[in-house]
Amino acid sequence: MRLSIDFELNGRAAHAEVEPHARLIDLLRDDLGETGTKEGCGEGECGACTVVVDGRTVNACLFPAPEIAGRSVTTIEGLLGEGGVLAPVQRAYLEHGGVQCGFCTPGMVMTSLDLLRRNPHPEPDEIRDALRGNLCRCTGYEQIVESIQAAAGAARGAQQ
Ligand code: FES
Ligand code: FES
Repeated sequence: MRLSIDFELNGRAAHAEVEPHARLIDLLRDDLGETGTKEGCGEGECGACTVVVDGRTVNACLFPAPEIAGRSVTTIEGLLGEGGVLAPVQRAYLEHGGVQCGFCTPGMVMTSLDLLRRNPHPEPDEIRDALRGNLCRCTGYEQIVESIQAAAGAARGAQQ
């Protein structure tokens, strides 16, 4: 039996037919071709699969696909502006070495945006705390913290 669901994906109406036990990450990657979201552990430990559902970050590897019916989902693909322009936080990651192999980056960026929305000017300790569910095997995290601080600083500068 497949369930018919309607939802919003990156600001657009979307529809899918899913098995009752389907995972959101498989719906996104395999059915909808949104492969920016990565699967690392598949067990809720690494944060590579982080997406936003109704304004809250979730691990797409644990989130049941049928539960997005009637909800709004944002993935890394949804951050790009007109003509593929990167969001400010994505640019900050590139400019401050927050990206190396890039596997953790989509999840890191989604978590970063969630943090900056709740706390526009986080201290380094607050950034580290917010990132504790996202693992990176490349950067040692320092550049990621710097990237988020830079994104917060750019936003502060834009407001002045
Ligand atoms: S793949 Fe979902 S938390 Fe690791
Ligand atoms: S940049 Fe490679 S895992 Fe984070």
